Amino acid sequence: MKRLRSLGRSLQPWWRTLRSPSLHFSLGFLTLGGFLAGIVFWGGFNTALEATNTETFCVSCHEMEDNVYEELKSTIHYSNRSGVRATCPDCHVPHDWTDKIARKMQASKEVWGKIFGTIDTELKFREHRRELAEHEWARLKANDSLECRNCHDYDSMDLTRQASRAAWIHQQYLGTGELTCIDCHKGIAHRLPDMTGVSQGGLE
Ligand code: HEC
Ligand code: HEC
Ligand code: HEC
Ligand code: HEC
Repeated sequence: MKRLRSLGRSLQPWWRTLRSPSLHFSLGFLTLGGFLAGIVFWGGFNTALEATNTETFCVSCHEMEDNVYEELKSTIHYSNRSGVRATCPDCHVPHDWTDKIARKMQASKEVWGKIFGTIDTELKFREHRRELAEHEWARLKANDSLECRNCHDYDSMDLTRQASRAAWIHQQYLGTGELTCIDCHKGIAHRLPDMTGVSQGGLE
């Protein structure tokens, strides 16, 4: 009994603090503040992510005269009877360095020159084109042409409505998983670089 009472006494200050309105207020305030800050941060973060995942953003760097965007415009992925349009991020993933780049771009004009050293003129772009294309081929080969398959599903392809050559070859190599879209369909959105030594799945 005595021990119980002393326990009660030793707990009293703690109990009082917990019940004090000022602490209630600050706890509540903190929680609410944190909650609001979270929303603002999350919203800003997503808006930034969305902004860097748009064609407008990609083209702000990649639209050089007679470059990838111009070329895309003349393909079926830009305009077709169905009105389904593939934009840059539909086929490509954003660079993992875009955020960093965006920040650096604001910070210094010199960095700009360095970053764009590889593709800032038509001539340099053409010189690097094969290398850049190879990055994309390797990426699409590794993920089994995931981005293509987001829109084109083999199981939904009505082979009977495809040209006979296409139907046959799709059944033979795509249906069996032997080859993937990018093995045979390079250059569907842009002009191809020098293709010396590159296999195009027998299409060449
Ligand atoms: C800040 C400028 C900038 C923006 C914005 C930008 N890019 Fe790039 N991109 C570059 C540069 C510079 C290269 C060349 C990189 C190199 O030399 O390796 C490049 C290369 C590429 C390549 C070639 C493959 C590779 O990674 O080497 C693809 C594909 C590409 N960009 C797609 C995109 C897409 C899609 C977007 C929009 C989501 C985008 N880019 C936005 C500057 C930019
Ligand atoms: C955003 C959706 C989308 C994505 C992503 C996409 N496509 Fe397409 N693709 C289409 C549409 C829509 C058509 C036109 C269909 C039509 O009108 O018959 C098309 C047409 C084609 C054609 C037929 C070309 C022709 O001349 O008839 C080929 C081949 C093709 N796509 C391959 C690819 C490959 C390879 C990839 C991945 C690198 C890819 N597509 C990514 C939507 C997409
Ligand atoms: C083994 C090579 C090969 C693979 C793998 C392949 N294709 Fe094809 N595809 C062809 C050939 C060949 C044609 C006919 C093109 C031609 O005659 O110019 C064709 C035609 C097409 C067409 C147009 C059909 C038509 O009737 O005009 C579409 C769309 C297409 N392919 C999409 C895809 C997609 C998407 C993938 C991956 C899911 C894929 N292909 C994988 C070889 C291939
Ligand atoms: C329908 C799919 C598709 C769309 C849409 C698309 N690309 Fe590509 N892109 C590819 C493929 C596939 C390659 C690999 C090279 C090739 O086969 O042409 C590539 C290659 C590239 C390269 C490397 C250099 C080169 O030409 O090979 C850059 C840079 C690039 N794309 C940027 C863009 C930008 C920017 C956009 C939007 C304006 C865009 N792409 C839209 C499929 C696409």
